Amino acid sequence: MTKTILTGLRSNASLTIGNYLGAILPMIKTQQSLEKDDKMFIFVPDLHSFITPIDYDNLYKTALQNIKTYIAAGIDLSNPNVYLYRQSRISAHSEIQWILSCFTYYGETQRMIQFKEKSKKEGRNVSVGLFSYPILMAGDILLYDADYVPLGQDQRQHLELTRDIAIRMNNKFEAKFPEGLFTVPKSWAKQLDFMNISEGIKIRSLSNPETKMSKSAKDPKGTITLTDKPDDAVKKIMSAQTDDYGKIDWNWEKQPGVTNLLQLITMLSGDGEQEVKDTWVGKTKYGELKIATAELVHDFLTNLQTKIAELDDEEVSKILEINEAEVSKIANKTLHRAQKAVGLKR
Ligand code: TRP
Repeated sequence: MTKTILTGLRSNASLTIGNYLGAILPMIKTQQSLEKDDKMFIFVPDLHSFITPIDYDNLYKTALQNIKTYIAAGIDLSNPNVYLYRQSRISAHSEIQWILSCFTYYGETQRMIQFKEKSKKEGRNVSVGLFSYPILMAGDILLYDADYVPLGQDQRQHLELTRDIAIRMNNKFEAKFPEGLFTVPKSWAKQLDFMNISEGIKIRSLSNPETKMSKSAKDPKGTITLTDKPDDAVKKIMSAQTDDYGKIDWNWEKQPGVTNLLQLITMLSGDGEQEVKDTWVGKTKYGELKIATAELVHDFLTNLQTKIAELDDEEVSKILEINEAEVSKIANKTLHRAQKAVGLKR
């Protein structure tokens, strides 16, 4: 069975080493395992950037920087099964959102947990965009007939909303499209099966290892971004929060700080978990563990940043635009189906 995989990764902030290890690396693995007619769509959801206030002046640059990061990490643009693009360049996203909106119930979007949480934070001036963005996201997925959409738990409701809209419209327009107007993405359970490879890979904050390494600026000491100077990253590792057990163990419950470092070593060295445990578990010198982690992080950042610096903005932009023209054709086909369904086109 051929399959289509789609991933959207943020655009309006620097990516963290957690994003790299938890999301970009699995994408590279998926790319390597693609079969003949499989497709993988990777995009920067730049239209999503405005749901909360951002630094508008930096959006363009950061989006391109993130695209370059994927390329440097190994996303292969010459692979005919792989598409990399900026959402805003594919006008079908904006167009289909309106149609989908009219088949989504007010109560459905109102129930979205992320909307409730984020709107609380934003206070009184909550934009309609924050409210309706799950519908934009549904369009992102449905336009490309995606089966698998690797996502974090916080996005589960949005996937389910996408499925509900697709099923509703498929039923409604069954007479015109007996095969289904849209491809319904797989259920959450099947998504989890698919994501199995990357399960459990959550890099924690260095300063507060009970929590995930966050992209927000509130935790600069706990977060290593891919644009950090390698020496600064070393300092963050050296001051990482550990514990006072005095003995290294792989134990997320009791020793999340130390375990986080062990996990970083595992992922960055390419050594297996067992090998890393054999080397470190039972040792008592936390300082040595930090130095070992810091060296790996330093080398990793230096390598990646060198590769990114070698990419020329103009050249990347050109290749991107060629890709985006091709992606537009694919998206427009689905948009056309939807326009036909609702009577806008023949
Ligand atoms: N909302 C997603 C996030 O915050 C990003 C995203 C937007 C996305 N559109 C998507 C992810 C479509 C997957 C598919 O992480």
